[in-house]
Amino acid sequence: MIDDNHRIDAETWLRPVTEADAASLAVSMTRSRAYMRPWEPVRPDAFYTEEGQRQRLAGLLAEREAGRVMPWVLADGQDRAVGGFNLNAVVLGPFRSATLGYWVDVTHAGRGLATAAVRRICELARDELRLHRVEAGTVSDNTASQRVLAKCGFEQYGFAPRYLHIDGEWRDHRLYQRILHDGPVTGEPAAPGV
Ligand SMILES: CC(C)(COP(=O)(O)OP(=O)(O)OC[C@H]1O[C@@H](n2cnc3c(N)ncnc32)[C@H](O)[C@@H]1OP(=O)(O)O)[C@@H](O)C(=O)NCCC(=O)NCCS
Repeated sequence: MIDDNHRIDAETWLRPVTEADAASLAVSMTRSRAYMRPWEPVRPDAFYTEEGQRQRLAGLLAEREAGRVMPWVLADGQDRAVGGFNLNAVVLGPFRSATLGYWVDVTHAGRGLATAAVRRICELARDELRLHRVEAGTVSDNTASQRVLAKCGFEQYGFAPRYLHIDGEWRDHRLYQRILHDGPVTGEPAAPGV
C-alpha cells in the first residue's frame, strides 16, 4: 500500500516522510550540499537546519493532505533519512499525471538506490494512485539522473531551453516521461483547468 514501508535493499527502505524526519534530513542534506549543488536551486543556509527542514516538511505534508504531492524518504537501517523522492503536481481527471523529483545522500549514491526507489514509486503511482503517466526533467548534462530514468523505462519527450533556475542560472532541461498503463480513467471529476 502507498503508506507502507517498501524495502529497497538489505538496509534501505522507502517510506512516507514524517515531521520526525526534519533532523536527519538536515544532516543528510548538509553532508550532500556540495554534491547536489550543480543540480539544485540555490538554497539559503537556513534550509539546511533542522528548523528549516521542519518548515519545509510542514508545507510538504499540507500538500500531501490536499492530494497534490506524495513525498517519501529513503531511510537507512537506523531509520535516518538518506534521500528524498516526491511525486509533485499530482493531477487526476483525464491527465492522471505527476512530476517526479529525487535525490540520494552522497554517502549512499552509486549503489542503485535511486533506480530501485523510482521503479517502486512508478508501481505505486500505477497501482495505488492509478496515474497514467509520470514525468521528470533533468538539467541537460545530469547524466546520473538520466541513467536512473532510462533504467526505469522513461523516454525523453522534449527539450526545454532555460527551463529552471538551477545553481544560479536558467538551465536547459531534458524532459522525460513514462507511460504507466493505458487502462480506463476511473470516476473522479476532472481537475480544474484540465
Ligand atoms: C541522480 C541521483 C539521484 C542518482 O542516485 P543513485 O542512487 O546514485 O543512482 P543509481 O545508483 O540508481 O544509478 C546511477 C547511474 O548513474 C551513473 N552515473 C553516476 N554518476 C555519473 C556520472 N558522473 N556520469 C555518468 N554516469 C553517472 C551510474 O553509473 C549509474 O548508472 P549505471 O547503473 O548504468 O552504471 C544522485 O546522483 C543525486 O542525488 N544527485 C543529485 C541530485 C539530482 O541530480 N537529482 C535529480 C534531479 S533531476
